[in-house]
Amino acid sequence: MSAPRMEVHAFGLRFANPVLTASGTFGYGSELAGSCPLTALGGLVTKGISLAPRAGNPEPRICETAAGMLNSIGLANVGLRAFLEEKLPFLRDCGTRVLVNFFGETEDDYLRCAEGLSGHGPGIDGLELNISCPNVKAGGLEFGVVPEVAGRLCERVRGATDLPLVVKLTPNVTDVVALARACVQGGASGLSLINTLRGMAIDARTRRPRLARVFGGLSGPAIKPVALRLVHEVARARLGVPIIGIGGIMSGEDAAEFLLAGATLVQVGTASFVRPDAAARVAEELLGYCAAQQVSDVSELTGALA
Ligand SMILES: Cc1cc2nc3c(=O)[nH]c(=O)nc-3n(C[C@H](O)[C@H](O)[C@H](O)COP(=O)(O)O)c2cc1C
Repeated sequence: MSAPRMEVHAFGLRFANPVLTASGTFGYGSELAGSCPLTALGGLVTKGISLAPRAGNPEPRICETAAGMLNSIGLANVGLRAFLEEKLPFLRDCGTRVLVNFFGETEDDYLRCAEGLSGHGPGIDGLELNISCPNVKAGGLEFGVVPEVAGRLCERVRGATDLPLVVKLTPNVTDVVALARACVQGGASGLSLINTLRGMAIDARTRRPRLARVFGGLSGPAIKPVALRLVHEVARARLGVPIIGIGGIMSGEDAAEFLLAGATLVQVGTASFVRPDAAARVAEELLGYCAAQQVSDVSELTGALA
């Protein structure tokens, strides 16, 4: 049998393979390029960008947990202007697809950020809209938990950019399908799921929380079963847009499980903290899995759960 075909198409873009890096775990690409061959990836997703730079939360803001980690980074980032001036030039010629993750504290922030990220040509292939952020004008309630609010945000952002718009969903909701549907009706080109699960860790000896901000987002292998369930729930609803599966992917087989559950692409996050070339290895292992399973085209796996 000839080598399995690993190329996939989604949101009008061609990806060399289905494995991307996840936002917040791979910087702006340049930081890890020396340790992870970017051309071996399907793509990379940048750290979340906001209109203004953010310093993030006080330390400690990450800690290891059983089969995972907690973070309360607080969306620290260089801000839109510095991103365009200092980070984008590297991304223009980095040899892989680039999705820019972004967020805001108000609808207007989101719109201005989406507009600011658009029209720059190569270097930004698509946007990933992080809706797991507190809406300052709605008393801090996250944009991503009420379908009407999320749908309206997507619709407004959709009107502000011509780039493919992937919406990243939070798992901290009771009805993920209602949210996903509202986002698709609002014009989402695709859906990424999942973002981190809310959690906390305590040091019993000092009786203190391990994170300065007490609560944080749980990621890594500990969340994989939850992520698979949510991806599958949304896939079964057949909303007509590609899904990017995220949550605890450490190996090619983990990636294959997300594809079988209904994802078209996957992202590797926490694994890059274990070794910076984790995503490239996942891509290579996925190729090995396809060859061993006599899968001639990786797209055949999407939704192929028996
Ligand atoms: C340190 C850290 C920072 C993150 N920052 C962002 C971010 O800026 N925007 C975002 O949408 N997700 C962010 N995430 C969530 C990841 O992109 C991913 O959805 C989550 O970690 C689950 O995948 P994993 O288990 O492979 O890490 C962050 C995760 C970690 C661990």
